[in-house]
Amino acid sequence: MEVEEETKTSRRSFLSLATWAIGALISAGMGIPAIAYVIGPALKRANAEEWIRLGSASKVELNTPTLFKVKIERPTGWIVNVEELSFYVLTENGRDYVAMSNICPHLGCRVRWINDQEQFFCPCHNAGFNKDGSVASGPPPRPLDRYQVKVEDEQLFVLGG
Ligand code: FES
Repeated sequence: MEVEEETKTSRRSFLSLATWAIGALISAGMGIPAIAYVIGPALKRANAEEWIRLGSASKVELNTPTLFKVKIERPTGWIVNVEELSFYVLTENGRDYVAMSNICPHLGCRVRWINDQEQFFCPCHNAGFNKDGSVASGPPPRPLDRYQVKVEDEQLFVLGG
């Protein structure tokens, strides 16, 4: 009689433990992916550098900074922002390329290339930049920012962040 009671108790605790273990496995199986799905986007780096495709390298005229405009999507958590970025690309030989920002390093206005004057011009404080992005006149503290460039299958890419 006593042995039968012990067997029942042991079976009851085993079933209880097994039920608990199965419940825990199911919870972990569903809960871990759900948590990763919910918080994953927020943990991604918002400003990770990536290669941005500008377009055909043949568009760049020799010795003339050429403007490329691209729209890129940047996921920040659950929100996807669409940004329009602009880059000037310069080549002297059609093989080596320099990519420059069109943002003035003084206070962030947009510069534009003036072909007649062979200079970039920033209208905010009348600054000038040479073809290579170096400061020609005005208050900017440094040249135009540069980006790493690569050409693949005749397409230009810049490394931006
Ligand atoms: S913002 Fe370009 S010169 Fe001031």
